[in-house]
Amino acid sequence: MYSEKVMDHFQNPRNVGTMSDADGVGQVGNPVCGDMMTFYIKVKEARIADVKFQTFGCGAAIAVSSMVSEMAIGKTIEEALKITNESVAEELGGLPKNKMHCSNLGADALHKAIENYQEKQKETEPPSGSPEKSQDKETCSCPYCEGPIEGLENTCVSCHIEFADCPECHKPMNKKADECPHCGATKPRV
Ligand code: FES
Repeated sequence: MYSEKVMDHFQNPRNVGTMSDADGVGQVGNPVCGDMMTFYIKVKEARIADVKFQTFGCGAAIAVSSMVSEMAIGKTIEEALKITNESVAEELGGLPKNKMHCSNLGADALHKAIENYQEKQKETEPPSGSPEKSQDKETCSCPYCEGPIEGLENTCVSCHIEFADCPECHKPMNKKADECPHCGATKPRV
């Protein structure tokens, strides 16, 4: 009735357990029988580095979970999302017709764990326009104390020196100084 592969994964399920530092967790219940399956994933460099699962269900559901976990480890997120309930049943050498509903849990629980991981990623991404992302904005610093020079005022926010552009190198120099700190050019005396 069951294939050898189903029996093997049922009797020696791989990757059973929980994961305290999971990057994503997904849980689904089977409406037909009320059984439950929880998947935990660890992601490293956009690949599924580890999978653990807990299944409260029949032998077929345990075999399905075990197979899904093996199929997912090492895959990229995109590849893991392509694992379907049908491909898992196929990989197991088929399931009896009256047990096909048990295979519905496996890929769904894995996909939910991936969705959970992706949601967490979005939450930790800095919002666009934040200081980290706007580093390409050109900034000018004071040549005397290295503090930032403020916009149109041309004044150093730290030492409050007022600046004018050096007529030679066009970099900021103290309006009242006689010599440019960048190129050493001296102001023509009037
Ligand atoms: Fe519930 Fe198989 S009978 S998952």
